[in-house]
Amino acid sequence: GDDAGGRTTSRRRRRILVFPLPFQGHINPMRQLADALHARGLAVTVLHTRFNAPDPGRRPEFRFVPVPDGVPAGVAASGDVIGLLDAMNAAMEAEESAALRGVLESVLADEEQPPAACIVFDANLLAVPRAAAAVGLKTLVLRTASAACLGCFMAYPMLHQKGYLPPQESKMYMPVEELPPLRVRDLFYSSRSDQEKLRNLLARAMEAVNSSSGLVINTFDALEPAELERIRSELRIPTVLAPGPLHKLSSKNTASSLLDEDHGCIKWLDKQPPRSVLYVSFGSLASMDPDEFLEVAWGLAASGHPFLWVVRPGSVRGSEDIQGFPEGFEAAVEGTGKVIRWAPQQEVLAHPVVGGFWMHSGWNSTMESISEGVPMICRPQFADQMMNTRYVEKMWSVGFELEGELERGRIEEAIRKLMEEREGAEMRERAMELKKKVAHCLKSGGSSQIAMDKLVKYILSL
Ligand code: UDX
Repeated sequence: GDDAGGRTTSRRRRRILVFPLPFQGHINPMRQLADALHARGLAVTVLHTRFNAPDPGRRPEFRFVPVPDGVPAGVAASGDVIGLLDAMNAAMEAEESAALRGVLESVLADEEQPPAACIVFDANLLAVPRAAAAVGLKTLVLRTASAACLGCFMAYPMLHQKGYLPPQESKMYMPVEELPPLRVRDLFYSSRSDQEKLRNLLARAMEAVNSSSGLVINTFDALEPAELERIRSELRIPTVLAPGPLHKLSSKNTASSLLDEDHGCIKWLDKQPPRSVLYVSFGSLASMDPDEFLEVAWGLAASGHPFLWVVRPGSVRGSEDIQGFPEGFEAAVEGTGKVIRWAPQQEVLAHPVVGGFWMHSGWNSTMESISEGVPMICRPQFADQMMNTRYVEKMWSVGFELEGELERGRIEEAIRKLMEEREGAEMRERAMELKKKVAHCLKSGGSSQIAMDKLVKYILSL
């Protein structure tokens, strides 16, 4: 031990504060990181918004402290993520309430808890750096998306200068030479009306990264070596660590689900033949039109493959919950198909009967699939999903995009390609190779374990 105060035997216990962005795809990795740090001896205090608040009962070892988020109910329900971020950051920064700063002050003053070393915050919570600086607290940033995604943010001014962005219809398939293998359509961008907002948001997100004491990215060295190298050489922050995939560092993965997981589906999987099942899920935010929903239903039925399909409440536009299925559908898939509202996804992907994953290329889902050697059909919608798809298809060759209109015949074809054809089998082989790389980085002495050790040491030195 090298602590102050002359005690040399054991280090005084320290505490970290964590503050995730309140969306499932961000809550999970932050909780997994907190678990891993807790397992290595740090006490954990979780700051959270009222919107999508966690259930403290599921993690009695952690402290939970609410932060007033001022999110109007309408915005929270709208699914407008940029609007929600704006509202949240504005509320936390509000001068008159000094909302976040006040919370931090009282958390730091709590003498029953070990002294706080730093706050680990989600890169999108732009109000954190200033509030933390005001109370003298060091910050670490967690990026829950890929290293490539951060590379794209870093390149944003260049992408505008050189005319790649805003994207032009005629240039969507043009390669972005500075960011291989991305093309214009793979970049992170938004609808025209939101472009300026997004640009500002990303500029501020980069400031938040640059002003912090360290950066943690949920990826691993062997997956994105060139992308991590660029970040390390171009950013001016002391530490950049890649201890991912974070879900593999934590053993209690169901503890942060916002919806109840249907564990009954595991019994159903147990009865299926090896590698026969297509798992279908589009994450926590993506949605589809009722017409598309019908095409998916009939496409799945036509493929003849067993499928486990997650239809999340609200994921079909214009309806709150799973509406009636098309007439004849349930009879057509009796015994071969199962529809549920929310899955224990990591358990499903690890199940030996699952042979493919039709997904939206959210970064967590991508990492979870890679970790189990499951090849993918990608149907990206927004944000980083297009670039994740490009990496799945072009960089790692462990899946392919289903492009264009969702139509039952094309869906059936894509499923057959993945589940039956040689191309799919090759993708599965390469996915198994990646799975080995994941196992390797998680072993003692592997890159992710070393990164975690470094992180803990660094936190204790702050
Ligand atoms: C969003 C963005 O879409 C994503 O691209 C970005 O990188 C993070 O924020 P989301 O759309 O929810 O996330 O997708 P994803 O990143 O895949 O996260 C979803 C999480 O929910 C995963 O950890 C997955 O295991 C979990 N999940 C999903 C379940 O537990 N059950 C389900 O049925 C579906």
